[in-house]
Amino acid sequence: MEKLARTKVKDLLKSQPGQKVLAKGWVRTKRGNKQVKFIALNDGSTINNIQVVADASLFDEELFKRISTGASLAVTGNLVESVGSGQAVEIQATEIEIYGECDPMRFPLQKKDTSLEYLRSVAHMRLRTNTFGAVLRIRHAMAFAIHKFFNDKGFVYLHTPLITESDAEGAGDMFQVTTMDLANVPMHKGKVDFSKDFFGKKTSLTVSGQLEGELGATAVGEIYTFGPTFRAENSNTPRHLAEFWMIEPEMAFYDINDDMALAEEFVKYLVQYALDNCMDDLQFLNDKYDDGLIERLRSVLGIAFEKVTYTQAVEILEKAVSEGQQFEYPVHWGTDFQSEHERYLVEKYFGKPVILIDFPKDIKAFYMKQNEDGKTVRGMDVLFPKIGEIIGGSEREASLEKLETRIDELGMSRKNLEWYIDTRRFGTVPHSGFGLGFERLLLFVTGMSNIRDVIPFPRTPKNAEF
Ligand code: 4AD
Ligand code: MG
Repeated sequence: MEKLARTKVKDLLKSQPGQKVLAKGWVRTKRGNKQVKFIALNDGSTINNIQVVADASLFDEELFKRISTGASLAVTGNLVESVGSGQAVEIQATEIEIYGECDPMRFPLQKKDTSLEYLRSVAHMRLRTNTFGAVLRIRHAMAFAIHKFFNDKGFVYLHTPLITESDAEGAGDMFQVTTMDLANVPMHKGKVDFSKDFFGKKTSLTVSGQLEGELGATAVGEIYTFGPTFRAENSNTPRHLAEFWMIEPEMAFYDINDDMALAEEFVKYLVQYALDNCMDDLQFLNDKYDDGLIERLRSVLGIAFEKVTYTQAVEILEKAVSEGQQFEYPVHWGTDFQSEHERYLVEKYFGKPVILIDFPKDIKAFYMKQNEDGKTVRGMDVLFPKIGEIIGGSEREASLEKLETRIDELGMSRKNLEWYIDTRRFGTVPHSGFGLGFERLLLFVTGMSNIRDVIPFPRTPKNAEF
């Protein structure tokens, strides 16, 4: 006899009744009585379960005792129209094979506590919950859509190094990479002798692929990176990870306006893609955690993002303060905005996503193009409801002289950056780029409120399990 092939639950739910099928998956729930048992089976291909109906008289009674939430099964049976509500089809089981039992006393997802906090404490198992299944599928869909967006526009996916010597953002919050014996560090004249280290110099995990991205953009025109980045900032907030994924497009011949236009088109494309392709999962998250989610996703599509200069934004915030608005952190010209300020602008003042431009040069990285006023740079931050900053970018300083002067002013090493400065020395061009924080995007798209819940294995201060 021909061996029956397994059909995924997602496909079974769309299949015509009246055929013999084989389903495999994990038990979500089991209920029933002496005559008939109902098993909800899920294989992760969709948020939805396939209902298995088993006539108890056809099976050994012991079998059902061994089937509990979390157990893994192979079920053969007939796909029939479902009499119960909630599903079009179900499986009338003829054969049930147990792959693995799941001890109800010990299985961590058996507990009544299904809070996100509790699930973080069993993060190795939480992937099997409906919530994390939905998050993982949406995460995948967004990653795929990102590649599709840039591929369709003719961008080249550039792989930039994870181990690097340069602190692109100049914030000094890098994780060092070394093979030196930390109990016996080689020293030379009172300083650590990095010439003895693996690479013969001090190296770290990258905080951004941008600088190498600029090398690519000034060669093949338009590139994007999509990879992990690492920041050793000790920020224990619902929006910061020590290891997060970033998408960094970099484009030759783009000015700041082209850059903003691309950023807006890009995030709208991703939100539209999620609405078009992930509706089951979005609906689940909407119903379970955030009943404004789908509406909020739709709300960013139809409108143009508001463009505001940093200076105008400071005036708005100062006026708000004078009218009684309370902020934890003070604002005045020259300060970096906190998330509370960003959210005020987006949620209260404009009621839509905001693109902030023209920042004081002292709060931004060395590579940003300087404006004529000598005080501000052509940076842009895209701010989103509930999140604050989701994208940071800029037009890049294309002038060799200005770039070198700025590097000196900031006390950075020109020597370490010679390779980067060469882009301005040889055939320099106006160019721009930005970085989208992948998990920040996912916070917006899934409606989850803690960044630890949109990445499978979060890394945060004092937490690097698995
Ligand atoms: O604003 P950032 O620091 O910009 C850069 O790294 C530039 N090199 C980007 C570029 O122009 N190519 O970071 C970009 C984005 C932020 O807007 C935020 O969404 C995200 O990365 N991000 C973080 N996400 C999670 N955890 C952290 N600790 C993050 N730091 C930044
Ligand atoms: Mg930023």
